[in-house]
Amino acid sequence: MKSIDELLILSKNTAILAFNKLEELDRKNIKSYSLSSSIPREFKSDADHIIEKILIDELSKSDLNILSEESGLNKTSHQSSMRFIIDPIDGTVNFLRGIHCCSISIALFDNDEAIFGVLALYPSGDIVWGGKDIGSFINGKSLKVSSISNMNKSILCTGFPSRFRFNSSSYSTQMELMSKFSKVRMLGSASQSLFQVAKGSVECYSEEEIMFWDVAAGIAIVEGAGGRVKVLKSDSDFVLKVTADNGLLDLSGLNK
Ligand code: IPD
Ligand code: CA
Repeated sequence: MKSIDELLILSKNTAILAFNKLEELDRKNIKSYSLSSSIPREFKSDADHIIEKILIDELSKSDLNILSEESGLNKTSHQSSMRFIIDPIDGTVNFLRGIHCCSISIALFDNDEAIFGVLALYPSGDIVWGGKDIGSFINGKSLKVSSISNMNKSILCTGFPSRFRFNSSSYSTQMELMSKFSKVRMLGSASQSLFQVAKGSVECYSEEEIMFWDVAAGIAIVEGAGGRVKVLKSDSDFVLKVTADNGLLDLSGLNK
């Protein structure tokens, strides 16, 4: 069984390998995709599957189970409460349309506890990693959440995931959330949004009906940068409500 340090090194090397492939796919304009038959507004690209194969081939060297957005649970014979949670591309639509804000996301969890997360940011190639026991870093430089506590000066990142139910109840919840903040941003990538919280560029990220693999690595990175993360599970597997902030905001009334 590899140590946590060895698993972190394996994850960073895997993220770099996958990033190089994603650059190549972009260069060759491999942008084919289909819309999911089961989930409205869900784009699935060939690139998602190509990057997933690299991640699974490499991370399988650890003997740990791997939960992936594209193929579900990849089981090994090894018994462990630890598992990798991966999203080959978080922000597929951004990649396909050249909006250029997405990441390759790898997290290690022990049951429900985030041990570490690793992101390869696209297109910069910056490697971001972190966890509550190790701190958070971008290319080795330490990351820290913002020190702003005043909501009138605070910025929110949010999004409308594929599963988001557009109805009057969700509109009013979302509008109430957004109205508390000075500015609102939608980056189209949950992991990139969580990274912005970790580096202190925004104070909060909140998204309903977001998938575990979209946020797993980012959660660990926010925690490593000194932030606070609240995760609410839903009745559906892997569907979450996540709110992550710098730990200084008064979010009472919002975390229902
Ligand atoms: C998407 C991004 C986006 C969020 C969507 C996710 P995907 O991830 O994280 O920010 O709003 O819900 O599905 O599908 O590109 O991996
Ligand atoms: Ca994805």
